[in-house]
Amino acid sequence: MDDVDLARARVLAITGAGISAESGIPTFRGPEGHWRNLDPMKLATPEGFAENPSLVWEWYNERRENIRAAEPNAAHRAIVDLAHGAREFLLVTQNVDDLHARAGLPNEKMVQIHGDIFETRCSRCDFQGDVAKCERCGALMRPGVVWFGESLDPRKIDIVENFLAEDVDLTLVIGTTAVFGYIIDWATRNSRRIIEINPEATGLTNRATEVLREPAAIALPRFVQNLKAKNAAAAMNKYETQ
Ligand code: OAD
Repeated sequence: MDDVDLARARVLAITGAGISAESGIPTFRGPEGHWRNLDPMKLATPEGFAENPSLVWEWYNERRENIRAAEPNAAHRAIVDLAHGAREFLLVTQNVDDLHARAGLPNEKMVQIHGDIFETRCSRCDFQGDVAKCERCGALMRPGVVWFGESLDPRKIDIVENFLAEDVDLTLVIGTTAVFGYIIDWATRNSRRIIEINPEATGLTNRATEVLREPAAIALPRFVQNLKAKNAAAAMNKYETQ
């Protein structure tokens, strides 16, 4: 398959917990993942929150601390590099951490489709703020993330859908088990080339055009460097006499 000419390419990256694993943030479904020992129904649903809000807050506060102490890794930085080089770029991340932003990816090139762990919002109305109870309606405040059984933010869906309205030259799917139908749909829709970066097989593997079975912090920087080197060589050849 022809190599992608980055400067002319529309590039979509989709990331999940695996990209932050090497920064020391646990994934959800792996052998040391959260859902191995913890019950998602108690910690990541509106019903769980209604039943025991302090337990839920305790878990989210712990995760906030862990994320604050973590640093972006080489894979987060490679995404920024890719975004700078591409004609058009969008990252759809399922991660609620801020490591993509701290690596230097501008906000307008990124959608945190499952929300932002550092946001605090009302569990009833749309008030946001760092208080225990909503100043507008008195309901309990909750973390600004998407829980199981909840809908995605339609404004965020629009950003992704608008990007996908035109063909995508390169889609990278990194560190996600791709358990949600919308992730598989977005990864495959209108894409000419789909590369999966993940040490393990996933629900997307058989739709991918290429698979790199390595940790993201190794495979992704190398992929981006190689692509840039090939693009530079092709640009030189263009002006060589035959
Ligand atoms: P998962 O924990 O389901 O999957 C993490 C993926 O990362 C797995 O496929 C691993 O094989 C892979 N992985 C592990 N280490 C890696 C590494 N160093 N480099 C690359 N890949 C690696 O996490 P997500 O797919 O992000 O949602 O989970 C999706 C959603 O389910 C989360 O956003 C969260 C969760 O429940 C909600 O809470 C709503």
